Amino acid sequence: MRILMVYGTTEGHTREICNFAAARLRARDLRATVEEAGNDPGHPDPSVYDVVFLAASLHVGRYQPKLVEYARTHHAALNEKRSAFISVSLSAAGQNPHDWEGLEQCVARFTHETLWTPSAVHHAAGAIRYSQYDFFKRLAMKHIAAQRGEHTVTSRDYDLTDYNALCDFVLGFVGTPAAQPA
Ligand SMILES: Cc1cc2nc3c(=O)[nH]c(=O)nc-3n(C[C@H](O)[C@H](O)[C@H](O)COP(=O)(O)O)c2cc1C
Repeated sequence: MRILMVYGTTEGHTREICNFAAARLRARDLRATVEEAGNDPGHPDPSVYDVVFLAASLHVGRYQPKLVEYARTHHAALNEKRSAFISVSLSAAGQNPHDWEGLEQCVARFTHETLWTPSAVHHAAGAIRYSQYDFFKRLAMKHIAAQRGEHTVTSRDYDLTDYNALCDFVLGFVGTPAAQPA
């Protein structure tokens, strides 16, 4: 089985998530390829893969434009095969119904814009990388995190991803239960 993961990222966390999941797939002798959505929306060609995951993170309510463009370009091929979307966000770290409603709206806009209907969607909590933000972004993120119940200090970074839930989703979607030994 050939598996493709295409991601968009701004600060690198979605890349790390995809590489982590791909390593788990490879540990089960599955062929997993990870690629960033780049300037050429034609690449990589999803049609030669059995299962495709697209992953992107939310920044001010939007996913990375290159990943959106990739999904739009390949929506017909993606709709014909087993394909899933991994949405990475800070909102997914909490239980606030308003945040979750917002996440559903972001995914709905994404599927509307791209014409791609993923068979499944996983919401992964992302990271807070104060070390990569400028002064204003740091202030804004500290405030946003506090609003979501995460009381943070700007002298360190935070990884809020539940990697077990992520791998359960990815392995379950390709049909390899996470509980099965590697
Ligand atoms: C400037 C900025 C804007 C963000 N906007 C949102 C947002 O609208 N909703 C949300 O849930 N998370 C938001 N986040 C959190 C990111 O989705 C989270 O940090 C994620 O891990 C980023 O992934 P990346 O490193 O792959 O870009 C934002 C983060 C930053 C730095």
